[in-house]
Amino acid sequence: MSSLGIALRCFAASSLVAALAALSSGCGDGADPPDAPGATGGGGDQGGGGGDGGGDGGGSEGAFDWGLPPGFPVPKVPQDNPMSAAKVELGRRLFYDRRLSGNGTYSCGSCHLQELAFTDGLGSAMGSTGEMHSRGSMSLANVAYLTTLTWGNPLLDSLEEQALLPMFGETPVELGLAGREQELFERLRDEPLYSELFPQAFPGDDDPIRLANITKAIGAFERSLISYRSPYDLYRYGGDPSGMSASALRGMDLFFSERLECFHCHGGFNLSDSVQHDGTTFTEVMFHNTGLYNIGGTGAYPEGNAGVYDVSGVEADMGRFRAPTLRNIALTAPYMHDGSVETLEEVLDHYAAGGRTIASGPNAGVGSENRFKSELIRGFDLTAEEKADVIDFLKSLTDDEFLTDPRHADPWAEAP
Ligand code: HEC
Ligand code: HEC
Repeated sequence: MSSLGIALRCFAASSLVAALAALSSGCGDGADPPDAPGATGGGGDQGGGGGDGGGDGGGSEGAFDWGLPPGFPVPKVPQDNPMSAAKVELGRRLFYDRRLSGNGTYSCGSCHLQELAFTDGLGSAMGSTGEMHSRGSMSLANVAYLTTLTWGNPLLDSLEEQALLPMFGETPVELGLAGREQELFERLRDEPLYSELFPQAFPGDDDPIRLANITKAIGAFERSLISYRSPYDLYRYGGDPSGMSASALRGMDLFFSERLECFHCHGGFNLSDSVQHDGTTFTEVMFHNTGLYNIGGTGAYPEGNAGVYDVSGVEADMGRFRAPTLRNIALTAPYMHDGSVETLEEVLDHYAAGGRTIASGPNAGVGSENRFKSELIRGFDLTAEEKADVIDFLKSLTDDEFLTDPRHADPWAEAP
C-alpha cells in the first residue's frame, strides 16, 4: 500500500531525471539515456508553436498543423522534441501497441481509452499483470497544456519522462517492461511498419528505434490530443449557443459564481488552474486539499495516497492534489484521484458540504473539518434544480468529436 509513497518519495529525494534514469536502468541493462544525442528531427529547431492556431511546430516535416481555431492557445513544446506529423503518427502506433507491455497484453491505450476521454472507467487502474494502482487513470485530453503531470506530483512535468513510469515502473507494474528493454527493441524492429515510421519521424538518426525516440514520439502524440469542440467551447469561443440548453447556461453561471467557487480551481480554457501554453512566461502550479478525507480528525488521507505530501513529506501538503481538467467530465467517472466518488451528483454533494463525511470504517472522519483543506472549499446550499443545472453545464463540456476523432484512434484496430 505504501509502495507508491516510497516510489514518490524517491522522486523527491533525488532529481526527477536521475530518479527516472535509475528507474529504467535499475530495471535492466541497456536502457538508453532519455536525452541521447541525435534524436531531434529536422535539426532541433525551435519547437514552440507560432502563437496562432496553425502555428509552426518545427520538426522534420516543416510546420506542424495543430488544426486549432484562432485564439485557442498553442501548447508549449520542448525544444528537443519538435512536433511533426510523422512523429505524431509513430507515437499513435506506439501508444496503442501491445508489444509495449512485458506480456504483450497491454498498451497505453488499455488504461487510456479514447471513447472515455482517455480514461478507463475504473476507480483505480489495473496493470498488465493484474496489479492494482492506488489511483485512477487520468484523461489525456489537453495534457499538452499541463504544468505538472499525474494527480499530485509537483516534480513531474515532462510527457517524455512520464511515459517511462507506466513502461518501467514496478510499484505497481503497469506495462511491465522493467528489464525487458532489449526485448522491446527487438519486437519493434520486427514490425515492418516501424522500419518506415521511425526513420520518417527521426530523419538523420541512424539507429532510431531506441527508448528516447519511443518516448518522444509518444509525447508528440499525446500533445496532439486536444479537446476544444464541446458545446461549451462553441458557445464561449465561437458564439454558437445551439449546443447549450437553458439549464446548462444557468449551471455555467453557478459554476463561475463566488457562491460555488468552482472556477477558482477549474477555470480558464482548460477548466483547470494548472496550465501553460506557448507564450506563458511563468507557470503557477496549484494543488489543493478539498476535504475528501480527514481520517480520525487528524487531517490524514489514506496512507500512500496523500497527494503532494507523498512527494514532499511536508505536513501542509497532506491531501493536496491537482485540480484536473473538467473537460469530458461526464465520461470519466468514477471521480477523484482514487475513484472514491461515483457520480457528478455525489461530487456536488461533497463540495456543498464543504468536504466529505465518511461515517465508519478505516477512513472515517469529517472531511469538512480537515485542517489542511483549501479555504475555497466552504460549502454552499444548492436547490435540486440548481444541482441539475450545474450537472447539465458539466455535461456541456463533452467533446464528441474528440472522442471519435480518427486521428486519435487505435490504428492497429483497422489493420489485420
Ligand atoms: C495500468 C494502467 C495504465 C497504463 C498502462 C498507462 N497509464 Fe497513464 N495513467 C494511469 C494512472 C493510474 C495515472 C495516474 C497516475 C498517478 O497519479 O500516480 C496515469 C496518468 C497518466 C498521465 C498524466 C495525465 C495528467 O493529467 O497528468 C499521462 C500523460 C499518462 N498517464 C500517459 C500514459 C502513457 C503514455 C502510457 C503508455 C506508455 C500510459 N499512460 C499507460 C494508468 C495507466
Ligand atoms: C480549491 C480548489 C477547488 C475548488 C474550489 C473546486 N475544485 Fe473540483 N477538484 C479540485 C481538486 C484538487 C480535485 C481532485 C481532488 C482529489 O482527487 O482528491 C477536484 C476534482 C473535481 C472533480 C473530479 C475530477 C476527476 O477527474 O475525477 C470534479 C467533477 C470537480 N472537481 C468539480 C468541481 C465543481 C463542480 C466545483 C464547484 C462546486 C469544484 N470542483 C470546486 C479542486 C477544486
